[in-house]
Amino acid sequence: MAPILDDPDLTLDAIADVASYLASLPVAGPTGKGPGTMIGLGRSLYIQDCARCHGANGEGIAEQFNPRLVGQHYGYLLRELKLIRSGERGNSNADMVGVLKPYAELDLESLADFLSQLPAP
Ligand code: HEC
Repeated sequence: MAPILDDPDLTLDAIADVASYLASLPVAGPTGKGPGTMIGLGRSLYIQDCARCHGANGEGIAEQFNPRLVGQHYGYLLRELKLIRSGERGNSNADMVGVLKPYAELDLESLADFLSQLPAP
């Protein structure tokens, strides 16, 4: 993705146009679900540590640039959570990295499981 964004012909207006277009699209097709066996733990961790930034139902807080988490694939969420925890996702929100650092593997799986089961908008 970086080489595309580095293109000097890609203006801020063009990036804004692409963002508005993407925001207008419905969630496409069925999204990948987790096993559905860890929803309880995922829900309580989410309410305790994530809802203040990502919204009570994972809808995100657009004005604060906090992304929506519902309607995303289980596999994608789990991979990103691992990359955020390890610090490999370079642009991660620092407060969020602090929250996720002490999380065990099972905690990340349960969060991704819970979020992937929420109804997509
Ligand atoms: C202090 C606010 C804050 C907290 C607390 C927080 N996040 Fe985030 N989160 C963000 C922001 C801002 C981004 C977008 C930038 C980035 O990737 O860091 C983000 C990005 C993400 C992404 C990547 C989304 C995508 O589309 O790629 C996931 C997944 C995520 N957060 C999950 C969580 C979970 C689960 C928790 C609770 C354990 C949590 N976050 C706590 C602010 C927060």
